[in-house]
Amino acid sequence: MPSRVSSLVAAGVCVAALTVPVVPAGAATPCGDPRRRPWCDTSLSPDRRAALLLRALTPHERLGLMAGDDPVGPLLTPTSATAREGTVRGVPRLGIPTVLMAGGGPAGIRQGRGTALPSPIALGAGFDSAAAARFGRVVGDEARRKGNDVALGPALDIVRTPRGGRSFEGFGEDPFLTARLAVPWIRAVQEQGVLTSVKHFPANNQEFQRFTVDAVVGARALREVYLPPFEAAVREARPATVMCAYNLVNGRPSCGSRPILDGVLRGEWGFRGTVISDWFLAAKDTAGSAEAGLNIEMPVGVRYSPAALLAALGTGRLSRATVDRRVHEYLRTLFAHGVMDRAPYPNAPGTIDTAAHDRAARELAEGGITLLRNDGVLPLRAPRSIALIGSAAGEYVSGGGSSQVTPRATVTVRQGVQARARGAAVTYRDGRDVRSAVAAAREADVAIVVAADAKSEFTDAPCMTLRCGDPRRGDQDALIRAVAAANPRTVVVLQTGAPVLTPWAEDVAAVVETWYPGQQGGHAVARMLFGDVDPGGRLPVTFPVAERDTPTGTDRRRYPGVGGKVHYSEGVFVGYRHYDRHGIAPRFPFGHGLSYTTFAYRDLRVGPRGAQVTVVNTGNRTGVAVPQLYVALGGTPGVPQPPRQLKGFAKVTLAPGASRRVTFPLDARSFAYWDEKGGRWQAAPRCRILAGSSSRDLPLSAACGTPG
Ligand code: BGC
Repeated sequence: MPSRVSSLVAAGVCVAALTVPVVPAGAATPCGDPRRRPWCDTSLSPDRRAALLLRALTPHERLGLMAGDDPVGPLLTPTSATAREGTVRGVPRLGIPTVLMAGGGPAGIRQGRGTALPSPIALGAGFDSAAAARFGRVVGDEARRKGNDVALGPALDIVRTPRGGRSFEGFGEDPFLTARLAVPWIRAVQEQGVLTSVKHFPANNQEFQRFTVDAVVGARALREVYLPPFEAAVREARPATVMCAYNLVNGRPSCGSRPILDGVLRGEWGFRGTVISDWFLAAKDTAGSAEAGLNIEMPVGVRYSPAALLAALGTGRLSRATVDRRVHEYLRTLFAHGVMDRAPYPNAPGTIDTAAHDRAARELAEGGITLLRNDGVLPLRAPRSIALIGSAAGEYVSGGGSSQVTPRATVTVRQGVQARARGAAVTYRDGRDVRSAVAAAREADVAIVVAADAKSEFTDAPCMTLRCGDPRRGDQDALIRAVAAANPRTVVVLQTGAPVLTPWAEDVAAVVETWYPGQQGGHAVARMLFGDVDPGGRLPVTFPVAERDTPTGTDRRRYPGVGGKVHYSEGVFVGYRHYDRHGIAPRFPFGHGLSYTTFAYRDLRVGPRGAQVTVVNTGNRTGVAVPQLYVALGGTPGVPQPPRQLKGFAKVTLAPGASRRVTFPLDARSFAYWDEKGGRWQAAPRCRILAGSSSRDLPLSAACGTPG
């Protein structure tokens, strides 16, 4: 896996040439006396206060607030407890604090060791807004207790291709699901007094050529697929910052696109916060970025160095008014989020309630574990002997890159199963010697094969199979086949950051997707395998039969792109929308996931404020249901509509025989599509509502009626 340093060097950035500034301690006291510093008057609006403070800043101080000032921190946060991923130096003479940005973000806080939560795609699989809030609370709490002002998440990028290196950092392939998890996540972090950064805005869907690739994407796909999570986040949760992406969109750098930053983000959605650039290479030029809407270049000023800004001012390409506007927006953000009115948070990781965060990590992992297939072998019923196979069972598996948290302590699947197995004999084989693994499987009551991929920021996956999913682990498909041939009671436990091909799925007794389940993952997996908890997850991404079936398929123009451009010619047909439109049978469809009990769905009613469904537990165990609501739009000639689109979900735990009436709120947007000609949302003339347990299991349907 290439490191951040090597990919920067490869991209032409000489890290050694960057100066390492001294990071000031920051203001030790809150804003100050309003008689001396009128902007410290908390009775004034953030806008007014920002205007007063701006006036007090010298021209040079203003320029200094347009860039981070620590290029080395990002390289150190995985191991150092004091290094920051980003630092924006303050102006102590006026009470402007140095703003500190925490390492990690989407899956926990790094900066030395931290609680490594499950990967966000596991949260996507949870289909649970309350879990998203709980996740956010842990992130916000750790960020704050490590003395940070900002957590660099969540990542709201849609999984467009399962090969995307960062697929595990987001919430899956569906914009509605992503939006509904993003909002409580952001609110929960910001309620802890920590600012968020929704990223990577917009259309940042692959790592191949990540600093330069141009996403050629139509307005409808942008509006219906890639922008809605950001839109919901901005409108409903008011994140303090938005991080613009490395890539270009339709020929313009994301951090230099006026139509997107000033037009859509600030103009249409009313964003009042600060736009920061992704780290090192996202700001492509000086005047263009500033005029477009970029406030701060991170983690250090290259395009926004004082010298570059002065040069652009000198040529007239950049105006003083633009500089003032961008600085004003930043100052207003600090006022609006209380940063100016409080003392800096102390870096006190010792105050973190690690037991509570461990519990959250385990329960969040349990909520996302997705049982894809089960011929009855699960839950395990007091087996006398277990053959546990696969190197991934003996290791902590997580996604790589800037979101990777160095865990405080880990529980591997091997440790979790051994701890839970009670009287059963557990034989472990790492699988490198296939014959020995097969021999162990043959002798055991049940064989469990743990297989993993190795998703990471910086590189896309070279394939979708477990044959090459993690070269260090050898041909895991062959291992699974060999073990399955030796023991009909073979359970495959996947630890992957995106869909993988499972050509052996029919030949094994059960398949479980645990994603990257975080530092308590081993306990979570064991508890699910033994039936202490019901598998809580449902697929937030489609598992295809073959890679050619995916939306990007084998079309190189779609992925990885040709001549530096990647063509989003599949339009809105991303994820399950593609499979449904083309009648392609997936291996496991979006929304699918089994429980240890069974559920029935009844009485779909559509009323003025939404739809209702009754869920009944028809089995004999307590279990977790995830009722899902889809909308099928029609009557739009020339504008093909996805056969179904997720517009509601809920998560309910029901005892045997118990039932629950579930309400799915709907609004005008639930029934609208983006009219490219008119440049606006348009209600579809026809529509039906479908409800059930997955995108391919929707027994109930009704006309939409006229919800308002
Ligand atoms: C990533 C961002 C991250 C930043 C700082 C970049 O490499 O793309 O997601 O927030 O580093 O860690």
